[in-house]
Amino acid sequence: MLHLASTTGSAWLTRALAHPDEILVDHAHCEKKAASTALSLLFRYPECTELLAPLARLAREELRHFEQVVRELQRRGLALVRQRPSPYASELLAAVRPAEPARLVDTLLCMALIEARSCERLQLLAEATSDAALATLLAGLLTSEARHHRTYVALAEGVAPTSAVRARLDALARHEAAVLARAPDWPRLHT
Ligand SMILES: [Fe+2]
Ligand SMILES: [Fe+2]
Repeated sequence: MLHLASTTGSAWLTRALAHPDEILVDHAHCEKKAASTALSLLFRYPECTELLAPLARLAREELRHFEQVVRELQRRGLALVRQRPSPYASELLAAVRPAEPARLVDTLLCMALIEARSCERLQLLAEATSDAALATLLAGLLTSEARHHRTYVALAEGVAPTSAVRARLDALARHEAAVLARAPDWPRLHT
């Protein structure tokens, strides 16, 4: 159960299949960013003992994903070039409430939604691509992203009551869908 408020349509998949190299480079950057965000939460909330081990494990796993995707880039003769990042993450995180503990809950739930959207789209790509090596790589990664989604929701439920977390997750999922609906039409995982 990914708690997304919208389903990715065929326009995104068509675009992604037409630009597999750009999508793969973007994916490498996304894995690196996912590791970095988990680490940054460890710096921001060192006193939240229950976050430490799960976030450290998650950061390590995202870095391993980064290594896997970089190896695939190298196998294809592609460089990890800089890309104009999608505005998705910054627009999604703009909804985070400023006062604690709401800030922590919202940040964890935004990360849960990013993981969910990645999982949904990696699955679409894995099923649609005619590239067997790419399909195998993505199928392996998306299982972890689904688990990361559940981890972030569970961590939020450790900070606030479950009913409040679920209501906030619904609201942020609608916001996430609205952000994606107005995203630019670049070939990225989150546009
Ligand atoms: Fe990942
Ligand atoms: Fe992840």
